[in-house]
Amino acid sequence: MSRFATRATLVALGALGALAGCRAEERATAGTPVPAAATTTVISRSPYHPVDVATIPDGPLGDAIRRGKQIVEHTYEELPDHVGDKLHCTSCHLAGGTVADAGPWVGMPGLFPQYRSRGARVISLADRINGCFERSMNGSPLDPRSDEMIAIEAYMSFLSKGVKSGASLPGRGFAKIDPPPVPDRAHGAEVYATTCAACHGADGAGQFPGGVYTFPPLWGDHSFNIGAGMARLDTAAAFIHANMPLGAGGCRRRTPTTSPTS
Ligand code: HEC
Ligand code: HEC
Repeated sequence: MSRFATRATLVALGALGALAGCRAEERATAGTPVPAAATTTVISRSPYHPVDVATIPDGPLGDAIRRGKQIVEHTYEELPDHVGDKLHCTSCHLAGGTVADAGPWVGMPGLFPQYRSRGARVISLADRINGCFERSMNGSPLDPRSDEMIAIEAYMSFLSKGVKSGASLPGRGFAKIDPPPVPDRAHGAEVYATTCAACHGADGAGQFPGGVYTFPPLWGDHSFNIGAGMARLDTAAAFIHANMPLGAGGCRRRTPTTSPTS
């Protein structure tokens, strides 16, 4: 674990330093920390693909969708046997997986099965989700036929209502910065102290007062492992650039995309 933690620290600081090109006035400073819970129930306000949780149907399918939502928003608490860190899926896939440039899940069911060069095979959506369980959650895969996996898939299908099958929407994934910025660890440490530490902690370990999640860890034993997408410098820089500090925006804001249903 400690080897992973050391590498992850380097990634986080390097990624931050890579953002040295942002002008000071564009970079929001950390204000009063907003608990994560305040951000995970706003999916109906997403500019990406508005989804109203009030339209989740009644009955068994609705129950599965609600269960999926609960799992992705409280992953380590709900599935302790499958999660080795202290993260929620929505720690990275922000606001319930509905935000552009923060790994949105809108349209996912229509994009799988797909070929992935990592592993060199065609994979299902459950396989892709399990990839995040093994690396981003530093845990173990779910049985693809388990109620939990089906609930997560049901939630993603609900988010994708009205989206054309096979459409890869603008804002999908974590928009890479082009050309890739040059990492600068010393500058990263400086920016971290002034802009990120208020929420994520001076030691990057996040905040868990009384064992309750408020702000997620960025590195260390409670974080993702080195195989995770977020452990790659370009992905971390892209995510941070577009999304952090949370609620204050990064230095680059994407304007709302065109309707994904068109
Ligand atoms: C630490 C951050 C992080 C966490 C936590 C995380 N993911 Fe991911 N996820 C990523 C990254 C980064 C990618 C894109 C990886 C790449 O570059 O291919 C991704 C990709 C995905 C994709 C494919 C998206 C696409 O556009 O093809 C799905 C689906 C997904 N994650 C689901 C989940 C689920 C479900 C969970 C919780 C069990 C989860 N993720 C937890 C970072 C995370
Ligand atoms: C106002 C509080 C706040 C500030 C300031 C802030 N973050 Fe975050 N950050 C969050 C929250 C909350 C989440 C998880 C989102 C959720 O659970 O809804 C998050 C998630 C993340 C994640 C993905 C999840 C993980 O733990 O790996 C990364 C990476 C990240 N932040 C990096 C940064 C960096 C770098 C900065 C400084 C530029 C920063 N954040 C500033 C609150 C903040």
